[in-house]
Amino acid sequence: MRIQFDDTNLMAGMAGQEHGITRADIERYSDRAIQALEGFKKISEPGGKVGFPHLPFDTAVAKDIQKYAAKVRGGFDTVCLVGIGGSALGAWALDCALRGPHPVQKPFTSKNPRLVILDNVDPSFIAAALASMNPKKTFVAVTAKSGSTAETVSTFLIVKAWLEAKLGRKARSRIAAVTTIGAGDLHALAVREGYREFGIPKNVGGRFSVLSPVGLLPAALVGIDIRKILKGAAAMTNDCWQPDLKKNVALRAALVQYLVWTLKNKPLQVAFPYSNRLWGTAFWFRQLWAESLGKAKARNGEVLHTGQTPIAALGATDQHSQVQLYIEGPNDKLFTFWAVEKFPDTGKIPKAGLKLDSFTYLEGQNLAKLIDIERRSTEAALSETGRPSCTLTLGRIDEEHIGAFLQLLEFETAFMGELLNIDAFDQEGVELGKRFTYALMGRKGFEPYRERFEQYEKRRASVAKK
Ligand code: PA5
Repeated sequence: MRIQFDDTNLMAGMAGQEHGITRADIERYSDRAIQALEGFKKISEPGGKVGFPHLPFDTAVAKDIQKYAAKVRGGFDTVCLVGIGGSALGAWALDCALRGPHPVQKPFTSKNPRLVILDNVDPSFIAAALASMNPKKTFVAVTAKSGSTAETVSTFLIVKAWLEAKLGRKARSRIAAVTTIGAGDLHALAVREGYREFGIPKNVGGRFSVLSPVGLLPAALVGIDIRKILKGAAAMTNDCWQPDLKKNVALRAALVQYLVWTLKNKPLQVAFPYSNRLWGTAFWFRQLWAESLGKAKARNGEVLHTGQTPIAALGATDQHSQVQLYIEGPNDKLFTFWAVEKFPDTGKIPKAGLKLDSFTYLEGQNLAKLIDIERRSTEAALSETGRPSCTLTLGRIDEEHIGAFLQLLEFETAFMGELLNIDAFDQEGVELGKRFTYALMGRKGFEPYRERFEQYEKRRASVAKK
């Protein structure tokens, strides 16, 4: 398993003094990086505040999921995941990376079921999804850490009724629930209805839960080898605890990105995979980076309003959409390229003998070489215009590399939180909108939020009148 990090293009020698950092900057801050690691270690001791570093070592959970998946697989050609945010994006990242980007995966059969993720409550999306699935051949995994998210609960009620209308009481054997161990209303429903239940540890937050049953159950149901994912993640976890910037890619990446962001004022970060298989991971990362690092206050109460806005761009596609802005627009971005050393297919370009300038030079070459050269060309173009970038390179895309890569990005996020001295593991900003929704949809106990919302409406009305 090989994941390399190259930060040369973040250096002042490449991006210029105004936008690049120096080896001396890294030297000056290296003790802070080690303190960040130690600080994070303290809050992630077994049973502590943060549980995600321990997930790859929980082989009992993985065995249980595999046993269950082996028992139920074959009876369905579609896995319908009902969940949103951290309860959906990890499963998409795994499926997209390991079985190919949607919608160009291998033909679906009961041996290779498709994964349909119902996250948004757009009624026409849900109606179209239901129309595309056969209730007799669908397995439903409903996932909510809180057990109460309005989007997930409402969609699940629709899916449950749709399944029961065809299968009656048998529907319950086609539903599994993933939620916080022993708590919340989804857990209560699972107990009442007799659904198979898988637990999310209390100290594992939604966006850090991909290696818990949240990501592993859907992956196992569609036939992905989850043991290999955990093997790669476990090896990466061991590397991430090394107090050494040369050996610890997550710590090194967090430190140099922290320096470029804060010393060189780069409030935006572009995650730029040159692989369609990593597109799901880019969206998963977007949530991880945004929700973990976008915070009003430091741990000591100081008002910060910090955060680095993550943008997902796909290479080479977005060279023809975004790169004009990236090269000539404001120099306010840090670019992180995600490269792949060895693609499973090389995409040989046939020799057609067309004798046309725009065609002939490409004949006999291959797409793996072209996409690699496209990335290196974009890196060079950004560098020439003083735009700092760095590159994470995966040896290949397989279960072990993906498990390792996801864990690396989670550790990097956690270390960045420590460097910023913020709590990267809460999400009060998400909660307020959720509470307004509950209140307006009539949920008991949320009346004060209805009043608060009415105040907001009054303010709007008076401003609109002026
Ligand atoms: O990271 C988080 O905690 C959130 O983004 C959640 O994943 C999201 O709000 C969904 O929550 P739940 O799993 O409780 O439905």
